[in-house]
Amino acid sequence: MARVGILTGGGDCPGLNAVIRGVVRKASRNNITVVGIKDGWKGLVQNISSEISPDSVSDILQKGGTILGTSRTNPYKKPEDVAKAIENYKKMKLDALIAIGGEDTLGVANKLSKENKGLNIVAVPKTIDNDLSATDFTFGFNTAVGIATEAIDRLHTTAESHHRVMVVEIMGRHAGWITLYSGIAGGAHLILIPEIKMDIDEICASLMRRKAAGKGYSIIAVSEGATFKEGQFATQEKELDSFGHVRLGGIGEMLAGEIEKRTKIETRYAVLGHIQRGGTPSSFDRVLSTRFGVKAMELVLEKRFGFMVSLRGTDVVAVPIEEGVGTLKTVDMKLYDTAKTFFD
Ligand code: F6P
Repeated sequence: MARVGILTGGGDCPGLNAVIRGVVRKASRNNITVVGIKDGWKGLVQNISSEISPDSVSDILQKGGTILGTSRTNPYKKPEDVAKAIENYKKMKLDALIAIGGEDTLGVANKLSKENKGLNIVAVPKTIDNDLSATDFTFGFNTAVGIATEAIDRLHTTAESHHRVMVVEIMGRHAGWITLYSGIAGGAHLILIPEIKMDIDEICASLMRRKAAGKGYSIIAVSEGATFKEGQFATQEKELDSFGHVRLGGIGEMLAGEIEKRTKIETRYAVLGHIQRGGTPSSFDRVLSTRFGVKAMELVLEKRFGFMVSLRGTDVVAVPIEEGVGTLKTVDMKLYDTAKTFFD
């Protein structure tokens, strides 16, 4: 092992730089050069990379985003791009490649690894959505939950002053993890997630019960991927990205409009959007990312290609990459039941 490539793909999340730092520091202790590939799979297809010196990662532990840049490029959209990626891996003289990403980036890593065309791949799971089944937690999730919780805390005071319903729309795509955790932590009065279809009659009845009981305001945490019974996803664009995903968004506005129309209670909505992905990682995420980065380089040294790092309980272990891309990890229903104890 002399040269190891590293790339970050898909939506960024806090902790990516801490993983890169962990990889580079572990590599330098083993006299390995790390080659940073720009903007995810795009950089491998277009042959854009530069070496990352151990000194250059000194101050990036606390920094959000990714120093490597990212993209949602899917080389499998065009067969010639897969060929270019394989060719450039050789041109960069890589002995292995560490791919850090969510289900899309890991899906590409899995295919490239399985096709057995000489690419030695180790993967690291990341996403604020926490929806990868092969790991108990992804880094970035804890930070996003903290940001969403603070937002809910802040909405309490303004909702209370104005005797309003406040709807807060939270990211997470088709899994309600961020909404459920931040909803519980922030004391939201209703938590609506993609895993359970929304019943507008029940929602309004709950709000009216709160009002009748003298509770002057209500906070609703809703996932961007939540849908009404018989409804569709609220989307910002109908077009699909290169991995076939729609851009979700708009359910908060839709729900607030429906609530106001039916209950006549003044209702506002707030969309947290990419604020949940930006900024410095929490200490939990810094520790998890650091452990993932160091473990990923250990897997490279052990030549355990086709594996990804994963958190199981309190241990960081290795699991086949395909386990990470198999099934969407939806929320723990026992936790949802706990949350329901506090609904009116
Ligand atoms: O997967 C992470 C995520 O932030 C989702 O929660 C959200 O739906 C999506 O990415 C937004 O993607 P983009 O950054 O392309 O708008």
